Amino acid sequence: MPQPNTAFLPQATRLHQDGLDDEHQLLFALAKAGSDAPGQLDPDTALAQFDLFFEAIAAHFGHEELVMARLCYPLLQAHHLHHQRLLTRLEVLRGELVGHCRDIHEIWSDSATVVIEDVMSADLPFKTFLHEQGMLTGKEDKYS
Ligand SMILES: [Fe+2]
Ligand SMILES: [Fe+2]
Repeated sequence: MPQPNTAFLPQATRLHQDGLDDEHQLLFALAKAGSDAPGQLDPDTALAQFDLFFEAIAAHFGHEELVMARLCYPLLQAHHLHHQRLLTRLEVLRGELVGHCRDIHEIWSDSATVVIEDVMSADLPFKTFLHEQGMLTGKEDKYS
C-alpha cells in the first residue's frame, strides 16, 4: 500500500490536526497508484484497488468531520453535505468501473479530482477557522 509522503502535499493545505494531513497524502498516493496501474489490469484487481481508495476516503471524511465537531466548526453541516456529494460521485465512478464504461485511467483521473476538491478547496475554510481560533499560528507550515 502506498505510504504518505508529506513532501507532496502543498504546505498551504496542511491542517496540522490529528493526522488529517497524512490521510490527505495517502489519498493522493492511492489515486496516483490507480492512475499508474496498467490499463489491462484484471477487473477484480482494478475493483479491489478502487474499493481500497473508496474506503480510505470515506474513513477520512468521517475522521475529518469528527475533528471538526470536536472543535465546534460552524460550517460542519455544509462540509458533511459536501463530503456526501463527493462520495456519491465516487459511487458513480465505481459503477462506471464495474460496467467497463470508460477507460480506467479516465475514471481514476476523475477520482483524483475528488481528493483535490476536498483538500485544495473544501478543507481550506476549516484552516481559516483554525487560524481565527488561534489553533494555528501561521508558523506551522514554514517549520514543519
Ligand atoms: Fe473535507
Ligand atoms: Fe479532507
